[in-house]
Order: sequence, then C-alpha cells, then structure tokens
Amino acid sequence: MLPSKLELQSFPRRNDAEIAVAAEIADLIHDRNQEGLPTVLGLATGSTPIGVYAELVRRHREQGLDFSAVTTFNLDEFVGLSPQHPASFHAFMDQHLFSKVNLPKDQTHVLAGHLPMEALEEECASFEDRIRQAGGIDFQLLGIGRNGHIGFNEPPSSGDSRTRLVTLDATTHRAYQDGFAAGEMPNYALTMGVATILESRRIVLAALGEVKADIMLALQGTFDDPDLPASFLHRHPNAALVLDAPAGSKLKDPTGSQAGGK
Ligand code: F6R
Repeated sequence: MLPSKLELQSFPRRNDAEIAVAAEIADLIHDRNQEGLPTVLGLATGSTPIGVYAELVRRHREQGLDFSAVTTFNLDEFVGLSPQHPASFHAFMDQHLFSKVNLPKDQTHVLAGHLPMEALEEECASFEDRIRQAGGIDFQLLGIGRNGHIGFNEPPSSGDSRTRLVTLDATTHRAYQDGFAAGEMPNYALTMGVATILESRRIVLAALGEVKADIMLALQGTFDDPDLPASFLHRHPNAALVLDAPAGSKLKDPTGSQAGGK
C-alpha cells in the first residue's frame, strides 16, 4: 500500500469537527489580513459545511472576522438551474455565508451553470483563468459523496481532470433530490476538476456522520483510483481529513497512523 500524506483529525462530535475547520479558515483569513494579503478560499456546499459557515458567521459578528479581502471559488453548480432556485449552490452560498459576512459580491465565484449549453465550456475555462488570476486557492474545503466524489467529480474521474461539464450519477441524484420537485433535478453539473482541486495549497476534506463511514473505510485503502476520486488526495502534500466519530467508526486505525496523521 502506498503511504498516505493525508493528515487525519478525528473529533468526538460533529460540532467539534465543524469548529476546528472554521477555526483553521478564520485563522488563515486573520493572519493574511494582518499581513495585508488577500485570502483565496475554495468552498463547498451540501450538509457538511453548514456548521462551518455558521461558525465563520459567528466569528464575523462577534469577533469582527473581516472578509473584505477574501475571494471565493465554489466547487460546483447544477446545470440548467436558475441562480435563484432554492436548491442552486448560488442560493445555498447566499443563504449560509455570502449574505451574512462582509464579502464583496464581485469577489465570489460560483460556476454559471444556468448559461446556455454552448456557453458552458467557455465558462469552465474562464473559471480556471479566474482562479489563476487570483493567485491560486489558499484553502480548499471539501465534502465527500457516498460514491467518493469531491466536487461533482463522479467516479470515474481522472486525476488530470479540469473544470468541466459532468453527468451526475445515481448516488448523487439520491443525495440531492430532496431539494427538487419530482423530475426537476438536473442531470448535469459543472465542477472544478480533480487536478484543479489538487493545485490548492491546503485542502481540508470534512466527513461527518455515520453515512460517511463506508466511504471513509474505502478511502483508507484506495490510492490514485479514478473510481474513488477523493483517493487522489492521498498524494497532496498538505491535505487533512477531518472526521467526527461516526464517520471514522469503520476505520482500521482511527487515530491515523496509516493516514500519517496526529
Ligand atoms: C458540494 C460538493 C459535494 C459535496 C458532497 C457531500 O459543493 O462539492 O462534493 O461535498 O456531495 O455532500 P454532503 O455534505 O451534503 O454530504
């Protein structure tokens, strides 16, 4: 088995894990603000980051955490969905973070999946350009699908993949269909590629809840496998897996010696 570089951080409860992730993001923003430097964040949606964003909002309100020099890039967005649709990731980000902190709207980048099909390739290329122009991503927050996807890089996704149009698989349909009326959920999405994600200088994948236990076990023993897209993270020099106890309950050594963590 190849050695993993993934640092493993295990917490007894979900809330402890959420606060640890938020604290790392807040410290990064604070330190870079102090040095007069901008911070570039890669952000996720879904149930996993909700508590992280709530804690960041709390720190903004109660401790003055300043988002004015932050630029954000979201991992993914559904295709063919208005940004105003409540299940769109545009709406999610507005609801949970953007409308609640002092982040200038023109410094937020969510893929424009609502554009006509023929404009999507250009949108993906432009998204990659915007990341480059911002100087790359300092910190990328990830969740993980039960099928091992990161962003919407569904299995199989190559480690060389860039931001592109993808077809959502059956597992993802089941996970996200609650936000949609019957038959309304899009079949396609735009997603940051695996290679794009791996270029981030720091990556934190949060996996919370018993529902993630099986995929965590699979990830522990799988390296560089397009059928488990998160497995490419093992080779990143500065990536961490943040788990609560239920998500880590099936790991062979949850203290992390196999994953090289603390
Ligand atoms: C969402 C995203 C997805 C989710 C994953 C887990 O922007 O990129 O990869 O992180 O589907 O979703 P939750 O957190 O709802 O279990």
